[in-house]
Amino acid sequence: MAAEGAKKLFAPSEVALHASRKDCWVVIHGKVYDVTKFLEDHPGGEDVLHHASASGDATEAFEEVGHSTSAISMMDSYLVGSIEGYVPPSISKSSDDWSVGAPPNSRNKGPPNPNTFLDFVLPLFMLGLAIAAWYYLTFIAKGN
Ligand code: HEM
Repeated sequence: MAAEGAKKLFAPSEVALHASRKDCWVVIHGKVYDVTKFLEDHPGGEDVLHHASASGDATEAFEEVGHSTSAISMMDSYLVGSIEGYVPPSISKSSDDWSVGAPPNSRNKGPPNPNTFLDFVLPLFMLGLAIAAWYYLTFIAKGN
């Protein structure tokens, strides 16, 4: 049943039609699960599943809970298909740290921190200034 369902492709708009308590589908990692029969038994409660269904994509909410491996293996029995044209975040973005929840503009992205440049130039400038002062005091000021 699960294998047969996994072959079905759904448009997000089609999944959105199944967001009631009598017919509740959730999308997790591009896969579509019919959790209607699981609503009452879900240890996290009926409401969270219903809310996740209405939100369109339950992946983030599902991951935030940190479901156990036994919860994850249960999912297969509710699988009805996949989202059409779904691209996993790690492929759609060039950086692979995105998928583990790093904010898009974090450390190793974008231009180098301007402070690094200043940190390098400022000591050089101070050194140049010190040499100029030494030169002036030793050779020029003494001469007068
Ligand atoms: C087919 C999909 C899902 C299955 C099979 C499932 C299964 C389970 C299971 C077995 C647990 C008990 C704890 C564990 O073993 O991790 C659980 C807890 C929970 N689940 Fe789900 N879940 C699903 C989807 C979701 C979604 C979409 C949400 C969205 C927010 C959610 C929220 C929660 C919460 C809040 C708990 C309670 C955690 C706690 O009390 O510590 N679940 N789920």
